[in-house]
Amino acid sequence: MTSDLHQQIADSLESALRDVASAGDTRALQVVVSAVQGKKGRLAELKALLGQVGDIEQRKELGRLIGDAQSRLAASITIREEQLKDREHGERVASEGMDLSEFIGEHQRGHAHIVTQAMTRLEDVFVGLGFEVAEGPEVELDFYNFEALNMPKSHPARSEFDTMFLEPGSPAQQPGSVLLRTHTSPVQIRLMQRQQPPIYAVMPGRVFRRDTPDATHMPVFHQIEGLVVDKGITFAHLAGTIEAFTKAFFGSDFTSRLRPSFFPFTEPSAEFDIRRAEGDWIELGGCGMVHPNVLRAGGIDPEEYTGFAFGFGIDRMAKERHQVADIREMYTNDLRFLRQFP
Ligand code: PHE
Repeated sequence: MTSDLHQQIADSLESALRDVASAGDTRALQVVVSAVQGKKGRLAELKALLGQVGDIEQRKELGRLIGDAQSRLAASITIREEQLKDREHGERVASEGMDLSEFIGEHQRGHAHIVTQAMTRLEDVFVGLGFEVAEGPEVELDFYNFEALNMPKSHPARSEFDTMFLEPGSPAQQPGSVLLRTHTSPVQIRLMQRQQPPIYAVMPGRVFRRDTPDATHMPVFHQIEGLVVDKGITFAHLAGTIEAFTKAFFGSDFTSRLRPSFFPFTEPSAEFDIRRAEGDWIELGGCGMVHPNVLRAGGIDPEEYTGFAFGFGIDRMAKERHQVADIREMYTNDLRFLRQFP
């Protein structure tokens, strides 16, 4: 009987080890484990039979053999479990993960995005002309984005800005009074409320409009706003500033021109274009003398001070400058595109 038991212990260990090794995943391993290690497992059953072995020495010997078999089985389960967990973790990372291989290996120094580069250079040029750089919030109130810019509730010009509205954050706010700013002009008002003239400032930032992306439009884009408020500021100062900026930014072979236009927040208003000697005129942005109502909304006396403002899109300008065919290319984060503009 005992030699028979010897054989059975060896056989059941071997078959249990085989089952553990062939478990394909942690779930299957769980099933195998409860079958081979549980009370109804083969080794546990053999152990229960030991009571029938009369010889105490033989009983001890068989008990030791079963104990050894159980520890070997436990060790193999632990190892198999580690293997399967590792593999499943690897598979999960591979299926959920991003391909970061671009960054492995040789260290590569990145560079600023084409729009960030344009923004930084614009700031540099205006700082060189004596302007400060200011910023305002992207989530704005109707008051700053429209009302204080001489566009009261029913003003038709409001509909030209396809506005994205947000849920008001507090019950005190009217529905429709919180929005993503549609231009950088609200920062003019915030700046005037913060500081009395003289003001010479540029305000770059992200703006938002409900536009379907196409080759020349993105719902999120960038503008830079300029504001000058001081005693005796005239339209000539505006034209002179646009011209000085054009030459400093685009090169001395560029000139600018102003065309009559309309904006509710400036009067008179103009659009400005630039061109390289004898080249085609390229539309850049809007400008004009700050409307007296706007100065008043900013807490500035229009009898004492006058000012001018301008604003233009940075993405479109960068697109023109680098001859990018489709503005959406600038936001797909394709390194083959981005690396062209070091
Ligand atoms: N805010 C205007 C726009 O987004 C541009 C502008 C700025 C016009 C300042 C005049 C003065 O179209």
